[in-house]
Amino acid sequence: MQTNTILLGDCLDILKDIEDDSIDLVLTDPPYNIGKDMTWDHWKTQDEYLEWCRLWLAECVRVLKPNGVMYVFHGEMGQFSRIMTMAQEMGMTLRSFCIWDKGDTFFKKSWINGEATGLRSWFTVTEYCAHFVKFLDPTKTDTSMINDNPESYAELKAWYQSELDRLHLTKRDVRQRYCSVTGRGDGMLRHYFSNSQFEIPTREVWESVYLPMGFGKTFAELKHDFDQKRQEYEQLREVHNADMYHCNIWRRKSMPSQRKSHCCQKPEDIIFRLINVSSRPGDTVLDPFIGSGTTAAAAIEAGRKYIGIEKDPVSHQLAIERIRALQREPSLFRQ
Ligand SMILES: C[S@@+](CC[C@H](N)C(=O)[O-])C[C@H]1O[C@@H](n2cnc3c(N)ncnc32)[C@H](O)[C@@H]1O
Repeated sequence: MQTNTILLGDCLDILKDIEDDSIDLVLTDPPYNIGKDMTWDHWKTQDEYLEWCRLWLAECVRVLKPNGVMYVFHGEMGQFSRIMTMAQEMGMTLRSFCIWDKGDTFFKKSWINGEATGLRSWFTVTEYCAHFVKFLDPTKTDTSMINDNPESYAELKAWYQSELDRLHLTKRDVRQRYCSVTGRGDGMLRHYFSNSQFEIPTREVWESVYLPMGFGKTFAELKHDFDQKRQEYEQLREVHNADMYHCNIWRRKSMPSQRKSHCCQKPEDIIFRLINVSSRPGDTVLDPFIGSGTTAAAAIEAGRKYIGIEKDPVSHQLAIERIRALQREPSLFRQ
């Protein structure tokens, strides 16, 4: 499907036109079924809503590339917990569960003073965002599954053993020298070139312990061979460019209503961050409920391609105009 486009229509129809395994990142903020807008955010029963969620979720999973990431926002935990279960039943791995803490923006004095006795639940000042991955091979998802796998880094391990043989050294000889030169116990040494949390020595250790014993690679050569392999293993996993303060609670006030063009508009900086963390430049981001176009604006800013879908003609027009304005004047981003 053509990218850098915001399509007007029902996502259940339009998603069918997107090829299998073709999207790098799905990022979406669907109706929460909380009556925000009675035309698109209200179902007669919760079951009907969840059945509808099952349909678009299945399409999102289908079009996502293997190892692709999907973020789904929600604000109502009862329904969201069932949506998250559905996604997992469709083969998605729930990697993280993030909380957008909007602070006390919504507190009324009566709540602060404890006078709101009518409340029957804790007042919600959060939204949630589930972070899923469509793993190519679920057994190779974690660093440990790579670093504890005897087949990983096999060439480097074999080279190390051949060097021990060539130099007539035992592992005990290496341990003795390591402990005497570094003054440390053998805790880290046990991971070097091993099948248990595979690691290579640091430059300092390599140059003070191994090189003087005659090992035949400089640290730069060793690191080069290691990085090449590690890069190959990275391709087996999802993109995740960890940034600063990389925790699952996002403290950010919600946007003031006078700055929003859509009742549920998400702050661009949150969406921009997710795109940067979970995709590469040039990747394609899909949002099947794009509303006022936030995902498209953030994708442009991040140098990604986008496909947006919006059913409501008014919101669709807002999104189109927003993107046109952004293209004319890029400084409009995040205002
Ligand atoms: C929560 S809002 C998304 C707001 C968006 N994140 C933003 O920042 O503007 C959900 C949007 O989904 C749209 N929508 C609802 N049902 C839809 C459907 N079946 N297909 C496409 N869009 C739909 C609604 O019109 C609404 O604009």
